[in-house]
Amino acid sequence: MNDYATLTIGEKTLKLPVIIGTEGEKAVDIRGLRQETGFITYDPGFANTGSCKSAITFMDGEKGILRYRGIPIEQLAEESSFVETSYLVINGKLPTPEELTRTSVMLNDHSLVHEDMQIFYQNFPRASHPMGILSAMVNALRSFYPELMNTDEGFEITFLRLLSKVRTLAAMSYKISRGHKVIYPRPDYTYCANFLHMMFDSPVKPYVLDRDLVKALNVFWILHADHEQNCSTAAVRTVGSGRANIYASLSAGIAALWGPLHGGANQKVIEMLTDIHEKGLRVSDLVARAKDKKDPYRLMGFGHRVYKTYDPRAKIMKQVCDTVLSKMEIKDPLLDIAKQLEEIALSDSYFIDHNLYPNVDFYSGILLRAMGIPLNMFTVMFAIGRLPGWIAQWKENLDDPDQKITRPRQIYTGQNQADYLPMALRKKS
Ligand code: CMC
Repeated sequence: MNDYATLTIGEKTLKLPVIIGTEGEKAVDIRGLRQETGFITYDPGFANTGSCKSAITFMDGEKGILRYRGIPIEQLAEESSFVETSYLVINGKLPTPEELTRTSVMLNDHSLVHEDMQIFYQNFPRASHPMGILSAMVNALRSFYPELMNTDEGFEITFLRLLSKVRTLAAMSYKISRGHKVIYPRPDYTYCANFLHMMFDSPVKPYVLDRDLVKALNVFWILHADHEQNCSTAAVRTVGSGRANIYASLSAGIAALWGPLHGGANQKVIEMLTDIHEKGLRVSDLVARAKDKKDPYRLMGFGHRVYKTYDPRAKIMKQVCDTVLSKMEIKDPLLDIAKQLEEIALSDSYFIDHNLYPNVDFYSGILLRAMGIPLNMFTVMFAIGRLPGWIAQWKENLDDPDQKITRPRQIYTGQNQADYLPMALRKKS
């Protein structure tokens, strides 16, 4: 193949360089296009636009492949912990035993948050969604920890501080929303065990850790750790590209993740399954609605911009759900409904022709329910898992000499030049 592509516009022919990634992905470098021809590209939703080169995550949507730093997600889910995977995603390599211990010690050292942060929570209206609160709190962290990240050590402390404190803030928000005493992290617990402890321990009812749930939470967060240039990661990179600090950038990422087409889908899936269960809706009717072009209804937890086959994360999530529910002897009717829905959808020609398969959010809520996580905290769980990815992508963007402030162009379709009309001359409506 040529190492350039040829584009002819009117009289002008352009040789555009071709860029090929390590897994053979191909791109046409159009950076000179506007200057040379006056044309821009038009690609709403950036479905065909590569915004960066990245060495963090590889996805093959046709084959259902997901790898962090080259390592398949299946191996990480089986062998790794969330802390080790976070290290891998952020630092680009698996840690040595000493590096992993140092990371765990630092996560423990930075797990408390300033006590004044509790006052913030008291002032949010009771009905506030935890994602809105989390986004605000992460932005507020910058005021409590304003140290500049101008050394490697400064970056390391800030990244670990974020991983540790966001988890503490999330558990704290749950306790405060229930009017319960805040539970502090324990130094003898691992990262995931500590989260469950902070969520569910109580002075009158000590929480007994379940090894299977701790393992399941590790897998849940590993599966969410990064997913290349999705909506929230693009938001983090965009905000970071204006040289906003990492707290502000992550706060924007959390806000972007909240949307029901993105991370908010995990809450919407359970609401959909609950409606089927409680209101006696028929699965086949919902499938029919999802296919009806006149109806905006969509099956939540189905479809993906990149995956045109079964999402590899959903495959693992489904297995973990089955294992955890059977070990805990939980009979969740929503799991049966989900499986029924999947079966009907996957044998339907609309879903087959549109390549619509379950995505990560389809089964994840059932696992979170088994852990006792309340519905409105589901997307917060996704956000904690996505932190290492956002951090790694923010840093990669900062270090990339090709990157500039993100500033797409547009095709203007509004009114041509018009004169200002004084109020006295305007017609009454
Ligand atoms: N139910 C019914 N039809 C669907 C669905 C669905 N869930 N998803 C896509 N389609 C149809 C859509 O109507 C369109 O049909 P047509 O070409 O005939 O007009 C076609 O499939 C392509 O859809 P699209 O909206 O152009 O695809 P997209 O890549 O822009 O959107 C998506 C991807 C994930 C936003 C979309 O599939 C969706 O809305 N899914 C439901 C929400 C969901 O589960 N989101 C979680 C995504 S995974 C977690 C994450 O990474 O955030």
